[in-house]
Amino acid sequence: MNEQATTAPAVGQAPDEPGEASVTGTARVPEPDRMRALGARLATVLGPGDLVVLAGPLGAGKTTLVQGIGEGLGVRGPITSPTFVIARVHPSLRGGPDLVHADAYRLGSRLEVDDLDLDADLDHSVTVVEWGEGLVENLAPGYLLVSIDRPGGAGSGAGDGGAGSGAGDGGAGDGAPAEPRVVRVAGFGDRWLAAAGALRAALADQALADRALADRG
Ligand SMILES: Nc1ncnc2c1ncn2[C@@H]1O[C@H](COP(=O)(O)OP(=O)(O)OP(=O)(O)O)[C@@H](O)[C@H]1O
Ligand SMILES: [Mg+2]
Repeated sequence: MNEQATTAPAVGQAPDEPGEASVTGTARVPEPDRMRALGARLATVLGPGDLVVLAGPLGAGKTTLVQGIGEGLGVRGPITSPTFVIARVHPSLRGGPDLVHADAYRLGSRLEVDDLDLDADLDHSVTVVEWGEGLVENLAPGYLLVSIDRPGGAGSGAGDGGAGSGAGDGGAGDGAPAEPRVVRVAGFGDRWLAAAGALRAALADQALADRALADRG
């Protein structure tokens, strides 16, 4: 009750100042297939009610990661950039949570997001929002922020399909050359405090699998 003793973020804090993460991790992703594999790996620690916020520049690989999450969850595809809709629901093919895949690229403000019915199925779905940073974090009590960087520099590759935007067929298209990405994962809230070990284990497994593949040539 001693106010001076707490450093917890104040209620109503700006969404771009999320406070301290409960758990963080990093993955190096050499190519699109490994991005999908990472998504599938992340799916093993995702459950109903979870919110995943994806950040990263145009053509970073956000939709590619969602494809892997969808594979891992076992939902109906195909997963492409939701170009003409804000969100698309991919039903589970095996009685698990559905995947709600949203693209907030065109949403200017948090208010517009609140106006959506996006949270209608949140409790029973895994919700993944591209370009959602600073806009949708308050849709769930906790969230996983996944930030994808292109260390080689955005625009250095052919992958700039145009945001959310995209070509409508999965974004940047298949012609973009493989180029390393760095993926930073940060879990916020009690949900990810409780699941910190599971998330770290999943990322460690992914790193081992990547290493084994690299060693094999
Ligand atoms: N290491 C990598 N990881 C992921 N994608 C990669 C990688 N290397 C190259 N790519 C290519 O980069 C492109 C990423 O496109 P994707 O649509 O997933 O990006 P996005 O972040 O969703 O873009 P947008 O901002 O338009 O929504 C794809 O063409 C993919 O094949
Ligand atoms: Mg995309």
